[in-house]
Amino acid sequence: MVPFHYQNDQLFAEQVSVEQLANTYGTPLYIYSRQAIEHQFDAYQQGLGDHPGLICYAVKANSNLGVLSLLAKRGAGFDIVSIGELERVLAAGGAPEKIVFSGVAKKASEMRRALEVGIHCFNVESQAELERLNSVAGDMGIQAPISLRVNPDVDAKTHPYISTGLKQNKFGVDHRLARAFYQRANELQHIRVIGMDCHIGSQLLEAKPFEDAVDRLLTLLDELKQDGIALEHIDMGGGIGVKYTDQDIEPDVRNYIRKLVGHLKDRNLALILEPGRSIVANAGILVTEVEYLKDNGEHHFGIVDAGMNDLIRPALYQAWMDIVPVNRNADGHSASWDIVGPICETGDFLGKARDLSLTPGDLLAVKSAGAYSFVMASNYNTRERPAEVLVQGDAHTVVRQRETLTDLWALESTVD
Ligand code: LLP
Repeated sequence: MVPFHYQNDQLFAEQVSVEQLANTYGTPLYIYSRQAIEHQFDAYQQGLGDHPGLICYAVKANSNLGVLSLLAKRGAGFDIVSIGELERVLAAGGAPEKIVFSGVAKKASEMRRALEVGIHCFNVESQAELERLNSVAGDMGIQAPISLRVNPDVDAKTHPYISTGLKQNKFGVDHRLARAFYQRANELQHIRVIGMDCHIGSQLLEAKPFEDAVDRLLTLLDELKQDGIALEHIDMGGGIGVKYTDQDIEPDVRNYIRKLVGHLKDRNLALILEPGRSIVANAGILVTEVEYLKDNGEHHFGIVDAGMNDLIRPALYQAWMDIVPVNRNADGHSASWDIVGPICETGDFLGKARDLSLTPGDLLAVKSAGAYSFVMASNYNTRERPAEVLVQGDAHTVVRQRETLTDLWALESTVD
């Protein structure tokens, strides 16, 4: 599935001209392909095959209601980390009984709301959270279904900022303490123990760390059985990576899932997964216009109208994201360009040393911008966040309008 491709040297999103969308809605502009999102989600379902389980899309990767609603229609569950994400999923028509609630800092009010709507499971991250949840559920006279997020201490071999399954990370409970945790959880009157989860990191390009983690969790599960605690599901989190650079080999989602399912054979254990990036990253682009070209002798700067406020991944993680011309035929000035934005920060770049041919007014597309892109955008420098458009075949829908300036200070007030 190639959602963004050239027809006569013009970039298309499915059957829609990217230039036309930019002319209609302005830039910067996020464009998503519905087909690409559905294709990736289906790959997860196919990987699962007949094995009981649930694909809970990690809302944090792209929480646009359009994206959530199309996934909900496809039967997806959702992995949320806040009451905000919960309400988004409900507003998009997601089924509460297919929601898992992750995150290290759940407030009592968030727990209450999640219990009220009847989510599938709380992925508990600490003993203190467990006690709080027991008391909230107690006040409501019900039981809260839980899984413990185990920190398996495996090296996910990814960027340190997005690696989460090591001892030094704040996430989950050390696997050596997990047994005691479950024993305690099992005694609590308002807790119902149903699962075990982990999430070892993001943008993983190898299957091995997942397999190490699943084995570690299964060992624990066997110990729990000896304590008379039987679980219904195992949740291996998200983390399967995507191809950003030509050097990356895109993992085959179906194969990964089949491998994991292979480790669960002969066990009566459902498999939950929480993929985010691998569902949406390559289903999105950010379109930006070249405003100025600037040359200081050593460096060539292509100054564009999208900045780190619109897409922070390059600045924050030194993430390399491909940048391509919308019109491949454009006859510009060829050089190795640093593509920089309008923000008053040295770190404000989308890409460095890119061989492109540029003229002011050209449109560029930053690829793989469907995940962790719009959701991490800010209004820094009082800039409106971009519009988002979802394309389906030759049709398109604005799934989020561009913010207006007055939106930006609508909640503020002046003083005398
Ligand atoms: N489940 C949990 C508990 C998570 O913390 C995450 C991501 C996921 C699932 C989804 O992981 P994925 O399938 O997307 O790898 N902003 C960073 C990525 C942060 C990931 C945070 N947790 C980036 O732009 O690379």
